[in-house]
Amino acid sequence: MRGVCGVRAKAPWLLPSLLRQMGTMVQLKDMGLFKSQGLIGDKWTDAEDGRTLPVNNPATGEILTSVPFMSGQDTKRAIAAASHAFPSWSMRTASDRSKLLRNWFNLLIENKDDLAKLMVLEQGKPLAEAAGEIVYGASFVEFYAEEGKRIYGDIIPSPFAEKRMLVMKHPIGVVGAVTPWNFPLAMITRKVAPALAAGCTVVVKPSELTPLTALAAAELALQAGIPPGVVNIVMGDAVQIGNALLDSTEVRKITFTGSTAVGKVLMTGAGKTVKKVSLELGGNAPCIIFDDADLDIAVKGALAGKYRNTGQTCVCINRIFVQDGIYDKFAEAFSKAVSELRVGNGLEQGITQGPLINEAALDKVERHVQDAVSKGAKVLLGGKRHSLGRTFYEPTVLGNATDQMLIFKEEVFGPVAPLVRFTTDEEAIKMANDSEFGLAAYAFTENIARGWRVAESLEYGMVGINEGLISTEVAPFGGTKQSGLGREGSKYGIDEYLEVKYVCLGNMKQPVT
Ligand code: SIN
Repeated sequence: MRGVCGVRAKAPWLLPSLLRQMGTMVQLKDMGLFKSQGLIGDKWTDAEDGRTLPVNNPATGEILTSVPFMSGQDTKRAIAAASHAFPSWSMRTASDRSKLLRNWFNLLIENKDDLAKLMVLEQGKPLAEAAGEIVYGASFVEFYAEEGKRIYGDIIPSPFAEKRMLVMKHPIGVVGAVTPWNFPLAMITRKVAPALAAGCTVVVKPSELTPLTALAAAELALQAGIPPGVVNIVMGDAVQIGNALLDSTEVRKITFTGSTAVGKVLMTGAGKTVKKVSLELGGNAPCIIFDDADLDIAVKGALAGKYRNTGQTCVCINRIFVQDGIYDKFAEAFSKAVSELRVGNGLEQGITQGPLINEAALDKVERHVQDAVSKGAKVLLGGKRHSLGRTFYEPTVLGNATDQMLIFKEEVFGPVAPLVRFTTDEEAIKMANDSEFGLAAYAFTENIARGWRVAESLEYGMVGINEGLISTEVAPFGGTKQSGLGREGSKYGIDEYLEVKYVCLGNMKQPVT
């Protein structure tokens, strides 16, 4: 947790400080989207004990505002509100829910500029990338507004003459959604939209580092006509909030995006009340550049897959394996492309790389680079803190990386690309699969048969061939091994919020009269 808890002053620090971050005048068209309280039922609310937590701008360290530092008690109130709203929400028709989700989608898009600005201020990503996330996040709402109408049951051909068998699907109940700071909107909508479409109600705990986008999105959900209590937002004491969600018998499902360590704690805790769990956890994505790759496509793909969100996504490329025959050409062209990235405050024109989320993240990046260099890696570009200071790190390319380096094993979650040389396909696949994680993997080759074979051999939940950006609302997002359980997005994502009920009708032998 960052910052010091305080007690809320009479009026929250409102927009003046927010509007002048980094000397840049930031105007929201709709000031009503700037919320700094939690949402429980129909009430914007402080923590019961009045404690607060500052929200910082990662680019400057300046305090934007404070939000409630909520406890287990506050979370219980939110669960009660979600439980109260569940019967009527789940009883609505799918098309009714669909209309409200569609309204929410429209409002998210209409307010894209404001939401993107809020996101840059609290998360740091460049404005264009933040606007892209609003569209990406909203796409889940649009998709599930439609997909909710397609929750079909089944009629099972009965092996018994006198019995008929069918399957119905029901919303699972109240959902606890715990979401990260790297995608302050999309990781919420990817969970909340299918949950709501299925008829569930939710208690969302956004990251304490990025609550403002979540609160603005919740305000828009209310404006869209989604009834109070269907979406509740709490933030603050992560342990207490997590325990309240895990201990509650009313919460029937936990969905989480974040670290593998926290995912394991939630999975264990969910056992107490046997909840359904979906987990989208850490990755260690390999990217294999074969000799026969199209150099331009490989450079563009690896650049996008590595430096999106300043390297802070779970699907970001973490290790780049480059075959002997193309190694030198790729290293040169890739380093040149990386050198053209522009680092700075995400609100400034033309910036493509924002800050890291906090100084601890920067320390980790620095540790990884120092470890790699001490074990023989060659700095081809960057390799140090950026002159902007604090949370900024230079986009970095390391040559001669090996499997002995920390960066080979752990997600760096920053703008560092290590290049590992290889000779045979088998060697590359073996190194790529040498990880306890299995989220995303990438390969670049012009040979379709090789690409197909590689896609089959990679032990990952998602594979991009000749493509570094694979995320979309229509495809299943999720991992294998210690990268998680379940899938988000696509037609598969809604199953995570449904119970399957089998119904058997007996004594059906009576003749038709
Ligand atoms: C993540 O980093 O967890 C999500 C990335 C994405 O949706 O592409």
